[in-house]
Amino acid sequence: MNTVLVTGGTGFIGSHTCLCLLEMGFYILIIDSNVNSSKKVLNKIKKLSKIPKEDDNRVDFLKCDIRNEDLLNRIFKKKLEENKKITSVIHFAALKSVSESDQFPLKYWDTNVSGTISLLKVMTANDCHTLIFSSSATIYGYSKDGFLKESTPISPINTYGKTKSTIEQILNELFHSQPNLWRIANLRYFNPIGAHPSGFIGEDPFGMPNNIFPLIIKVASREIDYLKIFGNDYDTKDGTGVRDYIHVMDVSEGHMVALDFLTKNEPQIIQVNLGTGKGTSVLELISIFEKVNNLKIPYKFVEKRKGDVAKCVADNSLAQKLLKWSPKKTIEEMCQDGWKWKEKRF
Ligand code: UD1
Repeated sequence: MNTVLVTGGTGFIGSHTCLCLLEMGFYILIIDSNVNSSKKVLNKIKKLSKIPKEDDNRVDFLKCDIRNEDLLNRIFKKKLEENKKITSVIHFAALKSVSESDQFPLKYWDTNVSGTISLLKVMTANDCHTLIFSSSATIYGYSKDGFLKESTPISPINTYGKTKSTIEQILNELFHSQPNLWRIANLRYFNPIGAHPSGFIGEDPFGMPNNIFPLIIKVASREIDYLKIFGNDYDTKDGTGVRDYIHVMDVSEGHMVALDFLTKNEPQIIQVNLGTGKGTSVLELISIFEKVNNLKIPYKFVEKRKGDVAKCVADNSLAQKLLKWSPKKTIEEMCQDGWKWKEKRF
């Protein structure tokens, strides 16, 4: 039996993707340093996936920092001995705060880039050449009209984005060094929000979040008094920033189809946007959240945030054509499911 190694598998997108993998019948090994997530999610994933007790060995967890090449190597060897060879990797493990990345660039280059290099070395040494990498729309930086195709020039404006684009570059060079060997998918996420529809797993960042959706949840649960809206004079429909919010389950589903595509086709490297192709403004997001959850989200307009773009929306036609993937869930479902996850923890 083959194993899918999931780095960062206890994090937000990682945990939802692990659930999908288990539901699809895969054997998975999750590694995570747990610097920004908790191991507790494992039992929830097992329960939700409804795997029978005797199949418990389909999911394994090890606390491991991807920069620890020795430990990674031992993990690959151990799985081989157990007759559960690691044949593909879904690589989520990374630090992801934009503001922190500009404050502590070395930490970000080390964890994200050195960590990925260490993982790639170990994969090479252990004859594993299939990789799905968590990339981000943030690598596009400023664009003319905010509608982004995979061919849009890459020009990240913060350290976090630069680490992601550098990894894509490394993966491109690696692929071209042995084009008949590697199968690689760089999945460029837009703004994943929401939670599993059961409300049992969701986004659970340590500390104060910077992203809008977890902040809306905090306002809704009265942990903070109001939402600060960064700017109201952008060149957008209502002056507030427009983003392509996508349900985390649709993003996870994107990994399933990418893995299937890579394993069934010739070695290749692909870059694919995972977004809905629909733009939602901050005011629209607040209003939809209020409506579907019957809540009030107080807000105040404040100065624009440095480095924010007016609009960032995916052209997702490549994902539709190549992977036969299209997002299914609405922005209403994202708001409902995200809030359900919070309500379950009251
Ligand atoms: C941010 C990151 C991006 C990262 C992405 C997903 C920045 C500059 N960009 O993107 O690199 O890939 O998260 O993790 O941080 N907003 C408010 N008030 C808030 C927070 C956000 O008005 O308190 C607005 C923003 O101005 C923006 C929208 O909400 O218009 C979405 O913001 P956010 O959730 O932080 O995502 P991005 O800015 O798209």
